[in-house]
Amino acid sequence: MSALLELNNIRKSFNGLRVLDDVSLALAPGEVVSLLGPSGCGKSTLLRIAAGLDADFAGQLQRNPLLGFGPDGESGRGGGIGVVFQEPRLLPWLTVAQNVGFADGWLADDARIARLLRDVGLEGKGGLLPRQLSGGMAQRAAIARGLYGRPQVLLLDEPFSAVDAFTRLRLQDLIQDLALEYDISILLVTHDLDEAFYLGDRVLLLGGTPSRLRREFPVPLQRPRDRRAVELAYLRGEALTELQHSHVI
Ligand SMILES: Nc1ncnc2c1ncn2[C@@H]1O[C@H](COP(=O)(O)OP(=O)(O)OP(=O)(O)O)[C@@H](O)[C@H]1O
Ligand SMILES: [Mg+2]
Repeated sequence: MSALLELNNIRKSFNGLRVLDDVSLALAPGEVVSLLGPSGCGKSTLLRIAAGLDADFAGQLQRNPLLGFGPDGESGRGGGIGVVFQEPRLLPWLTVAQNVGFADGWLADDARIARLLRDVGLEGKGGLLPRQLSGGMAQRAAIARGLYGRPQVLLLDEPFSAVDAFTRLRLQDLIQDLALEYDISILLVTHDLDEAFYLGDRVLLLGGTPSRLRREFPVPLQRPRDRRAVELAYLRGEALTELQHSHVI
């Protein structure tokens, strides 16, 4: 198996209601895959399955043996997979640094925590409590925690949805830089067309009732990318057309 993570023919229902139907995707080493779809279409559900946090589904989840097992649902750490959830999920009684190194508790690697805090722009903020952070800072702390376990795969569930537009652009660039620096593969769940195409090597469009993969768009552009590139505008237009055809919007 050359992919790090492979989902084959995933079907998932809640209370007898089918949410995902026959969804397949694979994440290759070093690849950034964006999963784009409207609210409620099953993006978080699929990401939880990919993370190994929900075993109640039909179909196959294959992890490359290199990844091992895990992860731990609380810390989003382990098994070569890091998870950053839709909301930061920081423990309010722990400092930022303790949250980042949570998976190792008292044995946490302080030097690594300090380096990650610096990487996400929170240098010197490790002693603060979560309630002292802005939304964007809390989300950056969650990203640092997702990276703490040295994951080869980072699963991001709309990690920037709660921050303002400018912070969002900066965090997108941060993720891009970190993916290169730490050589990790990323599955990015988003409902933001710009974000999906700016960051993804491929963009997968999920939609319908129940949701299926409607289309896949390769994004054959070098990094770093220019947000104003006409190719990106063209691809966003194609995705919009597909969303309209499939009555998603
Ligand atoms: N634990 C659950 N029990 C019952 N239904 C659920 C559960 N989790 C999700 N669902 C349903 O499954 C569907 C998909 O939910 P999911 O959270 O995966 O959507 P999403 O694409 O992540 O949406 P959003 O963009 O708003 O985060 C929704 O209709 C939701 O109501
Ligand atoms: Mg969601």
